[in-house]
Amino acid sequence: MNSVHDKIISLRESLHKYNRAYYIENNPTISDETFDKLMRELVELENQHPEFADINSPTQRVGSDLSGGFSQYKHNFPMLSLDNTYSVEEILNWHTRISRNIGSEITYTCELKFDGTSISLTYEHGRLLRAVTRGDGEVGDDVTNNVRTINSIPLVLQGDELPELFDIRGEIFMSYATFDSLNQERAEAGLPLWANPRNSAAGSLKLLDSKETAKRNLEAYLYAFYSAEPPKGSHYNNLMTLRNMGFRISEHTKRCRNINEVVAFIEFWTEERHKLNFPIDGIVIKVDDVALQNELGNTAKSPRWAVAYKFQAEQVKTRLPAVTFQVGRTGAVTPVANLEPVLLAGTTVKRASLHNADIIAALDLHLNDMVMVEKGGEIIPKIVGVDMDFRDKSAKKVEFITHCPECGSLLVRTEGETAFYCPNETFCPPQIKGKIEHFIGRKAMNIENIGPETVDLLFSKNMLNNIADLYDLDYLQLSMLDGLGPKSAANIMQSLENSKKAGFDRVLFALGIRYVGSTVAQKLAKAFRNIEALASASVEQLIVVDEIGQRIAESVVAWFSKETNKTIIARLAKAGVKFELNARETLSSKLAGKTIVISGSFEQHTRDDYKNMIETHGGKNSGSISKSTSFLLGGSNIGPSKLEKIKKLGIPIVSETEFLNLINDETF
Ligand code: IVH
Repeated sequence: MNSVHDKIISLRESLHKYNRAYYIENNPTISDETFDKLMRELVELENQHPEFADINSPTQRVGSDLSGGFSQYKHNFPMLSLDNTYSVEEILNWHTRISRNIGSEITYTCELKFDGTSISLTYEHGRLLRAVTRGDGEVGDDVTNNVRTINSIPLVLQGDELPELFDIRGEIFMSYATFDSLNQERAEAGLPLWANPRNSAAGSLKLLDSKETAKRNLEAYLYAFYSAEPPKGSHYNNLMTLRNMGFRISEHTKRCRNINEVVAFIEFWTEERHKLNFPIDGIVIKVDDVALQNELGNTAKSPRWAVAYKFQAEQVKTRLPAVTFQVGRTGAVTPVANLEPVLLAGTTVKRASLHNADIIAALDLHLNDMVMVEKGGEIIPKIVGVDMDFRDKSAKKVEFITHCPECGSLLVRTEGETAFYCPNETFCPPQIKGKIEHFIGRKAMNIENIGPETVDLLFSKNMLNNIADLYDLDYLQLSMLDGLGPKSAANIMQSLENSKKAGFDRVLFALGIRYVGSTVAQKLAKAFRNIEALASASVEQLIVVDEIGQRIAESVVAWFSKETNKTIIARLAKAGVKFELNARETLSSKLAGKTIVISGSFEQHTRDDYKNMIETHGGKNSGSISKSTSFLLGGSNIGPSKLEKIKKLGIPIVSETEFLNLINDETF
């Protein structure tokens, strides 16, 4: 290898290949460590040589925070939809209709109907050029930057006989596991939950910040090919060719030699779909012979050569004897339907979430109603309707409560919010216990040996009324409690001691400030470095921080302004809980609030040294230029695209010497 450029190209090729093996072929060929090592090597080289930048490099999957709405793009081929049916009989009728003038059996390709959001990708010379959402079928949103972050979408194709320019379509979706953990994070941050993985996938694809999309773990399967020179032969074989180019084609796609095999495929997946780790809502049946597809043609809305069989959402009817109300740690009150136990999609359902007052009103629920319970894409069953034939004339309407069921406080509802809250943060038992349990949790202070039962016990003995009380617990007192004993007491004391060393970001998350989930806590900890700085920050100072918006900022300020919280912080600090970032020491706050991008090659210090200097002087180092960049710390050979961007946004360049003067100037 004779040049850096060759080295970069070769690293990119290898990483594309390993990515393909991992995300598309489900067959990793190297260890994660080796992969990471090569990736770091490439990142380093690309940083040192911005002139060799390439948007399709494997390093670019992380997304960029350059944003500003989406531009509209007209599809090269309109995006049709499919005729739907819920009955096998109609599938048979469709088959009879299209086979009328054909002497032989029709071969079909059956595919899963992925329950996500459709996407049209354009490739030119084997490289991803553009990604557009369905939109109205004619014109969609250009979401290329977001789609680039999806690992199962190839940026660069493999093979020698690639068509010069073509479109490929497929579905972007979210696995159940990702959906669950995303919602858990949202619950922790007090944000509204996504209803199902489909909405969550669609929402994540339309985020304005592709760095955020990158975190959402979206996936994709591809299923249709379009080009000026239309494909020939068998749809199934064409899919296999696409797979060889590097596209992710579902391994469940099956060629069926006759309609009976199609019916068997439908029956198989009606049961088997529960074992998939991502949602599907039906089966798509396509005529396999492309020539026959063309002969059958399309109507204005949908092709005549394909049809979708949709699964019935699984639904059962049961009685609703009661609605209870639960108070969470944030004080949010959630109505819960208590149902007569009933079997639904393999599990016994006893309760269903009613979400909020608006939903109860919309359903016009009465006690003892026969309600329809459904399990769709979402995991928690929901009530979708009432069978009025069973409604008793004297039935009592379900009303949302006005007072907290736990402490009797009058509930409040803030403008623009759907939830009612119990405002009695300090004395309402489930809020107290919930806050303590949150503080103890694995992602928070990770205090082992204290579970919800112990919290209950200590609360009932009046030994634990807030998080600061935890560190006043006393070994002797604990060891004398029924059900604990000396061994448990010693373990608890040890876990409490260990927890004091938890990092500042964890402590911040553990405090349970509304909207401060673990990601936000990390950002705040990094930006403010200690609790004093954070506690005295104004809304304006807070919103300067990456990802902190008005709502979070207001919530943080409100939390720190409460006397009870100030006392708790003081007590925790006295007990030895770490309230500052334990990484590097801060030398000054000369660069506080500044977001700085480093670019080019330097003479006096290395790039990493400069990164350190920025952070130790309170600034933030960022990899990409955006409106919020304060200045560019520029060496020689700044890449032309970076130069253009900063010119466009009017961002100043600060030289190495100017930067060093700035941070070393004592009078500054
Ligand atoms: S083919 C012209 N195949 O279902 C036919 N669609 O109602 C184009 N979908 O908008 C669609 N899985 O978002 C096709 N294996 C599959 C599919 C699939 C999911 C979605 C797609 C489309 C909608 C049709």
